[in-house]
Amino acid sequence: MAIYQATTSAPVNIACIKYWGKRDTTLILPTNSSLSVTLSQDHLRSTTTSQADPSFTETRLWLNGKEEDIKSGGRLERCLKELKKMRKERIEDKDHNAPKLSEWNIHVASYNNFPTAAGLASSASGFAALTSSIAALYDLNNFSPSSSAKPSAASPSELSLVARLGSGSACRSLFGGFVAWEAGSLPSGTDSLAVQVAPQEHWPTLHALICVVNDAKKGTSSTSGMQRTVETSALLQHRIKEVVPQRMDAIIKAIKEKDFDTFAKITTADSNQFHAVALDTAPPIFYMNDVSRSIISIIEELNRVSLLNTGHLVAAYTFDAGPNAVIYTEEKNVKQIIELVLRYFPQAESNPFPDPFQLFGGKQPAGTT
Ligand code: ADP
Ligand code: DP6
Ligand code: CO
Repeated sequence: MAIYQATTSAPVNIACIKYWGKRDTTLILPTNSSLSVTLSQDHLRSTTTSQADPSFTETRLWLNGKEEDIKSGGRLERCLKELKKMRKERIEDKDHNAPKLSEWNIHVASYNNFPTAAGLASSASGFAALTSSIAALYDLNNFSPSSSAKPSAASPSELSLVARLGSGSACRSLFGGFVAWEAGSLPSGTDSLAVQVAPQEHWPTLHALICVVNDAKKGTSSTSGMQRTVETSALLQHRIKEVVPQRMDAIIKAIKEKDFDTFAKITTADSNQFHAVALDTAPPIFYMNDVSRSIISIIEELNRVSLLNTGHLVAAYTFDAGPNAVIYTEEKNVKQIIELVLRYFPQAESNPFPDPFQLFGGKQPAGTT
């Protein structure tokens, strides 16, 4: 009796130009394009196993060992429906001997090796891993062992359309390196997908340091927070129309030219505008806390002094929908930044994470690259 099972991992991505707002809440179509850096596989990631079996009486999902409710017509079901359609059209309808996996229920188990729903983009790695694991289960993965594309293969951009139905930010985790999610304009959403701007190897000296300020689940989920912003913030309209389009062009150019100063300026400005838009929401949303704001002050001061002395910036901070900081910096500055952060925020004895270097980079920086 054959066992149909596949396991894949997907890394977290951290946006430099933030996605915040949907024009279509069912298809998860954004109000603006966004751009992110996918962290390397060996740090923050989701690992997902999916199984299909004709004996399964329902489709079930376990997250970090605990069974989750699957909402009818919800995110998992929407992703699964698309993947089943691909399986049926590309494989089962063409090869009548192929097992009819698209007609069976599945069991999915996923683990995050970092805090879930704490503003560290678990929905991004989570739905990217879920999509790629079911795609592998259904034999839709991109490459055959000989590494040439199979006729049934789904490209990463095609899979990004599926992952987007699970969580918007997830579409960007289908690619490594520097990734844009093009907002698109079609009501069907078929042009709202992720594309790679540059691979990880393009800028191997760029690192991301993850500072876990609080690993608790956030009070306002990204989904509900951004919806409230769309409904109440006038500043969001200015951001969508006047700010983001220019920033997208400028940051893509900066990445292509490995221009850290411009990359850092845009990244910090966009994080700050995203949190301003959250504050402009009624009732307001506060994702950052006092420690987050101290990290901003430290990095701003470091950059001010460096600009005076060298004419260049040292680091860029960015915060997602939570208090945890991500600091982008060049390899040559990693040690200095870790020492600075640890000087202001000494690690408690009871640190639940085994190795502080994992949090702040260190010997093996928690980098993009
Ligand atoms: P985050 O900032 O961590 O992305 P969100 O509020 O956007 O927080 O999303 C958190 C939700 O994403 C979780 O409550 C869960 O429903 C979903 N999620 C997180 N990790 C996974 C995973 N590995 N597999 C499937 N769904 C996941
Ligand atoms: C602040 O992708 O988590 O991290 O599409 O509703 O699941 P849903 O929201 P989600 O929002 C991410 C918001 C952000 C910015 C970003 O990643 O671009
Ligand atoms: Co999320």
